[in-house]
Amino acid sequence: MELLLKGGLVLDPSQDLEERRDLLIIDGRLAALVAPGTLPPEGRQVVDLTGLLVCPGLIDMHTHLREPGQEYKETIATGSQAAAAGGFTAVACMPNTLPVNDSATVTRYILEKAAQAQGVRVYPVAAISQGSEGAILAEYGDQKEAGAVALSDDGKPVANSQLMRRALEYARTFDLPVISHSEDLSLTSNGVMHEGLVSLQLGLKGIPAAAEEVAVFRDIELARLTGARLHIAHVSTAGSVQIIRRAKSQGIKVTAETAPHYFSLTHEAVRGFNTNAKMSPPLRTEADVAAIKAGLADGTLDCIATDHAPHSVLEKEVEFDRAANGVIGLETALGLSLALVQEGILTLAQLITKLSANPARILGVPGGTLQVGAPADITVIDLQRPWIVDVQQFKSKSRNSPFHGRNLTGRAAMTLVDGKILYRDNENFSR
Ligand code: DOR
Ligand code: ZN
Repeated sequence: MELLLKGGLVLDPSQDLEERRDLLIIDGRLAALVAPGTLPPEGRQVVDLTGLLVCPGLIDMHTHLREPGQEYKETIATGSQAAAAGGFTAVACMPNTLPVNDSATVTRYILEKAAQAQGVRVYPVAAISQGSEGAILAEYGDQKEAGAVALSDDGKPVANSQLMRRALEYARTFDLPVISHSEDLSLTSNGVMHEGLVSLQLGLKGIPAAAEEVAVFRDIELARLTGARLHIAHVSTAGSVQIIRRAKSQGIKVTAETAPHYFSLTHEAVRGFNTNAKMSPPLRTEADVAAIKAGLADGTLDCIATDHAPHSVLEKEVEFDRAANGVIGLETALGLSLALVQEGILTLAQLITKLSANPARILGVPGGTLQVGAPADITVIDLQRPWIVDVQQFKSKSRNSPFHGRNLTGRAAMTLVDGKILYRDNENFSR
């Protein structure tokens, strides 16, 4: 059956397009993108998108799906549903599962589960080192062949600089990007939040901004040395933004992402020992938030990724020191990111690029475009829709969001993958 999406405002930065268009989808692909009313509805399933924005499907390049091994926190199926509800048509999943994804067997398992779930596209990220233990390199060729799109020991840094050098050299031969969880663990020590006034007042051990920045600097110098593609995950500090900006101006192949919590919250959110505001790297200061926004605006930060990190109450409803790091983000990322447009920090086209075309380019995966002939991965957004974050409504298995109760404007109205409607918001499509 052909699907006609009519009346929406199409925003596709990859074609410099921002105009009302009707979209025709045949066999999972975009078959036509034409002036409204040009195509007859007869014999086609028609969806009226009047008043809504139609974009290339959003891609989250940093998700933790927890399967295999921690299915009580999230599964590939539930994570996929959360992604679709948040407007994402694809996610890249980090390898810190149980076991760690350090072999083609695990990558194949993830891809099989994703195929069974029939949800969003899932792109496995393979471990840099065996078990992500930082001692022995994993097999990148096998992993690439099995379908891995990038390498990372996310959750942990690669502490040994020589191993990181070899990883970058090895990754380069397979043209795989290396995603750096930039953290100097000796500086983190046993810190549990950002080191500053709030940590002092709460009596919690702090993590200085330098714990991130020295690691960002090292990995950039190793990217310079090796010529490999480096991607810095979850940038949280002003200093990191500055280091990355300088490296880019020197032509080093470095890209970077931040996550919505780093531009939506500061370390003040930890007051009351709120474990849902605990993550690695930690929430920082007002000045860091301002620098992250500036870095997004000037292109230093290429992507917004969720770092969706589900944890159960067992790991979160404990003393702050003992609580697990991480927050869920798939179902709030778009609403929080749209605030950047509402504040005038990004244009809508810039925001959508950071949520679609840029992650697609960095990971070397399809998507990020509504060109005729491309797979029909489409996100429809209601920019005007006011809503209140309610974790009880989430499709994710976990509830660890610091944004419960927050008022947001704008959310996904419909998510399509391969031309199949995976999610639709009943508020928009009640008929
Ligand atoms: O807060 C975090 N949670 N940071 C990470 O790097 C890992 C993640 C997780 O897996 O829970
Ligand atoms: Zn990380």
